[in-house]
Amino acid sequence: MFDLLIEGGELVDGTGAARVRADLGITGERITAIGQLAQATARTRVNATGRIVAPGFIDVHTHDDQLLLHAPAGPHPKLSQGVTTVVTGNCGISLAPLLTDSPPAPLDLLGTTGWRFDRFADYLDALEQAGPAVNAACLVGHTTLRARHLTDLNRPATPEETQHMAADLADALQAGAFGLSTGLYYPPARAANATEIIAVAAALTRAGGVLTMHIRDEGDAITAALREALFIGKTLGVTTVLSHHKLVGTANHGRSVETLALIAEAAQTQSLCLDCYPYNASSTMLLPERVHQSSDVWVTWSQTEPGTAGRSLFDLARERNQPPQDLARALQPAGAIYFAMSEADVSRILTHPLAMIGSDGLAHDVRPHPRLWGTFPRVLGRYVREQRLLSLETAVHKMTGLSARRFGLHQRGVLAVGHFADVVVFDEHQVADRASYENPTQVSVGIEAVYVNGRLASAQGQTRDLHAGRVLRRQQSSKTTSGKART
Ligand code: ZN
Ligand code: CU
Repeated sequence: MFDLLIEGGELVDGTGAARVRADLGITGERITAIGQLAQATARTRVNATGRIVAPGFIDVHTHDDQLLLHAPAGPHPKLSQGVTTVVTGNCGISLAPLLTDSPPAPLDLLGTTGWRFDRFADYLDALEQAGPAVNAACLVGHTTLRARHLTDLNRPATPEETQHMAADLADALQAGAFGLSTGLYYPPARAANATEIIAVAAALTRAGGVLTMHIRDEGDAITAALREALFIGKTLGVTTVLSHHKLVGTANHGRSVETLALIAEAAQTQSLCLDCYPYNASSTMLLPERVHQSSDVWVTWSQTEPGTAGRSLFDLARERNQPPQDLARALQPAGAIYFAMSEADVSRILTHPLAMIGSDGLAHDVRPHPRLWGTFPRVLGRYVREQRLLSLETAVHKMTGLSARRFGLHQRGVLAVGHFADVVVFDEHQVADRASYENPTQVSVGIEAVYVNGRLASAQGQTRDLHAGRVLRRQQSSKTTSGKART
């Protein structure tokens, strides 16, 4: 007798294999049978006829460190999309380990309060205590470590500071962190060089952890920035994830042909992959030097002038008769959406075999980028169904099996007997994002049921269980994630 039987659906198992008609039997937190199970008895039967049954989606690029601690009322930005696992702490930014009342930008993208964890293990314990809505695989941010140990962020770390950062990372890996993230693009980390990162990250190699990198430049100087990231990953001998791969600035549009070729070539000799989101606008802190690269810039939040959230910086600047860069400076601290990518690059990157899906959503923004609420349904609706850029099976693989393998998420990401019952049931003909730049928190449609560890967590976009997730801890033996790339 099963606790739950999901019957009659089309199983897309997350490996990239073609769909099959099969029933899914779940007992407790595990998948216990796959096949023709019509004769079996079950406490709950779910009719999934005409629906896709897939592994719950894995959001490999998030800044959900605080979101997971404080479950929101109403629909959940991740559960409502079918996401059952998130990777936190990306772009060099993790909530732990750091004690501060005034986190320097971009750390404030995680919120200005709540920086209360002196050790990474304390954060993981607090998360476990809170009971997250989705499973969490947590990264340590290099910029967070810099903010904790450097007396001056505008220079490389001293040998002593480097040693402190390395010790913190080793501690965190011991506690179950999945790896290290870097954000060399951002002001508090720009002065760090490859030597610093390699020294700080030494423990990654021993532990088989993952290195995710928001590279130094995604515009004119992207080639040098990519080479630096590839060099760091190769020297360390660890799986390297190039974060939100993109090309910004009109002059660089089309150059994904070149960058993807460089990445594919490197992937012959090192374990390498990338993540991306399905939008041609990006979002982060409001950086005055970024304004000129963009055809439009929207304010997502401003501490100085909260009323500007949701407005175009260019419109505001015109109204005030002020250069946009000056206004950007006046609104600090603040965040923004930048329209600076080409759709052709977005599509080319999304369909690349090394690309996984990650939202990069910012849950604390007043008027967030729609990727926070729409990323996964948008891939399935816009890019699979409408544009037929990739098969449904391939798209699901980029959200599940590929991601689980690259991050070393044990027994998740693929529907198989013995694996955890993270499952999403959706309608392939209806699934679509509804979040837009104008209305960024609209719940997606077509995601009918989401199970986290065997528990119904969300139904038709409405939250049912906010605490079905687990804090995942890296398996000590996840050495298999390093070495030569496998796709
Ligand atoms: Zn980033
Ligand atoms: Cu990010």
